[in-house]
Amino acid sequence: MQERSLPKNFVWGAASSSFQIEGTIPGDGRGPSIWDDFCAQPGKIIDGSNGTLACDHYRLFRRDVQLLADMGAKAYRFSVAWPRILPEGRGASNPIGIDFYKRLIDELLQKGITPWVTLYHWDLPSALEKQGGWRNRDTAYAFADYAAYVVEQLRDRVDHWITHNEPWCVAVLGHRTGEHAPGLKDPLAALQSAHHVLLSHGLAMQRIRALAPDAQAGITLNLNPSYPATPGKPEDEEAAVLFDGDFNRWYLDPVFRASYPQDMIKHYEKQGILGHQGWNFIQSGDLSTIAQPNDFLGVNFYSRGVMGDRGPAEEAAKADPLRYTGMGWEIYPDGLQDLLVRLAKDYPAKAYYITENGAAYDDHLTADRQIHDPHRLRYYALHLDQVAQVCARGIPLKGYFAWSILDNFEWAFGYEKRFGLVYVDYATQERIPKASYKWLKEVIAANKVFDVL
Ligand code: FCB
Repeated sequence: MQERSLPKNFVWGAASSSFQIEGTIPGDGRGPSIWDDFCAQPGKIIDGSNGTLACDHYRLFRRDVQLLADMGAKAYRFSVAWPRILPEGRGASNPIGIDFYKRLIDELLQKGITPWVTLYHWDLPSALEKQGGWRNRDTAYAFADYAAYVVEQLRDRVDHWITHNEPWCVAVLGHRTGEHAPGLKDPLAALQSAHHVLLSHGLAMQRIRALAPDAQAGITLNLNPSYPATPGKPEDEEAAVLFDGDFNRWYLDPVFRASYPQDMIKHYEKQGILGHQGWNFIQSGDLSTIAQPNDFLGVNFYSRGVMGDRGPAEEAAKADPLRYTGMGWEIYPDGLQDLLVRLAKDYPAKAYYITENGAAYDDHLTADRQIHDPHRLRYYALHLDQVAQVCARGIPLKGYFAWSILDNFEWAFGYEKRFGLVYVDYATQERIPKASYKWLKEVIAANKVFDVL
């Protein structure tokens, strides 16, 4: 791997989300969220855990900000917990909740770290789920009101807003496969939820513009470039187009082009999932609301999709940590460059940011309480090498946020999957920077990606 420089003013950061790190100690006015409810259902979380303590970041945030500062992070992407701000989802606000974020942000600003605030990273107030959650169009308006309230409260401190994190996960994992809260297995609900989340993005963008005209605002999508297992084989090629449609274009097209992709409309119709109301949940004017001009697109990149049979050799490779992460996700750094090249061509934006990228592996504390995580470090090195190449091509990729600053609650996987640059000993809440953290610190200081392999 050759040494490559990143552009001047490249935004180096790390990311987290509220439910995954904060903890939910009672008595501070926070209302329950769909993730509290989901965790309470037996069998939903692999290790039977929940978000009650998590990383106790709600109390230990100063320590965590110090870790970001010591790493040299220029920016920190975190999310605001809607049920901390509006315990019932709408109506009365909780001053203790807003005060927590003010204190967190002040701490960041004092250390010269720019806050990037995500308004929704999946912890929908339970009160709204009782009224149909994201299946219900009203939730989009409730989100816009919540977003406006947060922006009003924090705009003196925050200039970077991300409306949503990964609408695909909300729609598909939450409503089609049921792996995430609220745990539905209903493909129509998934389409409705996707639409209402996207609509709420557009509505929130309008409110952000009105309240904070100088702020930078956009959305984060999880995008997976897709490839046929056997290029040229018609079934595989077709399957790759379909995967791309369901995973990427269904979200990119409305946001950038004010339309849903025609081939996917036909595909969902053919599946017979629409019911007698058809596409009625998409109302006239919705698509132009969704397609508000964005200042940037946030891209979460972890892996790629390969469609078709890859043969037995590939199955065997899944145990190889150089080819697959601890999540069983294929390591395909070239996909990051392919994706950004494609975005620049098909979905031009003023700026792109990698708002998440990282890898879970099993970490083991040594006798002297160190974490050597060569596989994670290698994952970062290979992906940052691609990031540097994308920048060198003149594509406006302006920053990179590692997922995640801390080990944390990895949704349905509970605490079993560790994505942190910093190890968390959950029994004591001790934080131990891993080798990957120390490497990234050097990379940030040099503004250069270099070989470690
Ligand atoms: C993304 C989520 C994030 C984390 C990573 C591993 O889909 O946005 O919260 O779980 O995956």
